[in-house]
Amino acid sequence: MITLRRAVAADAQACASILHEAFVRIAAQHGFPSSFPSLEVAGRVAEHFLRLPAIHSLVAESAGRVAGVVFLDEGDPIAGVAAIAVQPALQGQGIGRRLMRAALERARGAVGVRLVQEAYNTGALALYASLGFEAKEPLARMAGTPRGAPPAGVDVRPFGLERLAECAHLHERVHGFDRSVDLRDGIGFFRPLAAVRGGRVVAFTYAVYAGSLAWGVAETEEDLRALLAGVAAALRAPLAFLVPTRQAGLFRWCLDEGLRVEKPMTLMAMGEYREPQGGWFPSGIY
Ligand SMILES: CC(C)(COP(=O)(O)OP(=O)(O)OC[C@H]1O[C@@H](n2cnc3c(N)ncnc32)[C@H](O)[C@@H]1OP(=O)(O)O)[C@@H](O)C(=O)NCCC(=O)NCCS
Repeated sequence: MITLRRAVAADAQACASILHEAFVRIAAQHGFPSSFPSLEVAGRVAEHFLRLPAIHSLVAESAGRVAGVVFLDEGDPIAGVAAIAVQPALQGQGIGRRLMRAALERARGAVGVRLVQEAYNTGALALYASLGFEAKEPLARMAGTPRGAPPAGVDVRPFGLERLAECAHLHERVHGFDRSVDLRDGIGFFRPLAAVRGGRVVAFTYAVYAGSLAWGVAETEEDLRALLAGVAAALRAPLAFLVPTRQAGLFRWCLDEGLRVEKPMTLMAMGEYREPQGGWFPSGIY
């Protein structure tokens, strides 16, 4: 029998090994690098999600052992499915669907729910679509170090809570909804960097690990390029982030700068969705 319950801090290791095993397996089946390449990475992510008040975590149990996990980001008006995985030996038996249904039930009050899925993952794509998610944006996870420097007049620098309201406003302008809880957590736990022109923030993002970026927004695509060039210089690490490929100029710029495409991904949404206005890229959640 399968039962669902809220996850607690003590579940971190069990969740990490399921994330690691499930993602390595599906990625290897398709010849792509895994999102959770090691148990250490999976453990870091699971521990972070389990301690974050904005994340609602659920585990499925079978015979007293953790069989699956889902993390729901519910801090802001748009909720996001941060990750879901079922232990490989128990996949295909309805556990993933039950976890997703429970997460969506929890997110009932949200104006929308979003997620990012690996485009090659046919099972997950079918599961999400059957639950009501619609494909909104094709993405390419890109990695590498831009060759160029940011243009003169744009200064890329770290920022803190003093810029929270200004950055939240820029996000709202681009996407049409508030994401300040996520942004506050990003500032608190990670490395936020902003492109400043004439004293004003025109683009920002935050790095969650080395050059791995969460989401970012910019007034214009040009500002986004300046941000990315400056962030690479500031972090001194190859960047990795999700490029919405319909921003064709940005996608081509990344290729011209020497970045490589790692894998195709898709942003999916249910509920409210407005086309972004300005430069943007999503995190692995939305
Ligand atoms: C994705 C995952 C969480 C799903 O969990 P699961 O317990 O295996 O899934 P379920 O058995 O609940 O449901 C799978 C559904 O997808 C359907 N499905 C699977 N492959 C399909 C395909 N190629 N075409 C159409 N439908 C498909 C199944 O028929 C089933 O639908 P049903 O409930 O109507 O029978 C699990 O397979 C997993 O951990 N995968 C590796 C990690 C991962 O991919 N996470 C998501 C990243 S985006």
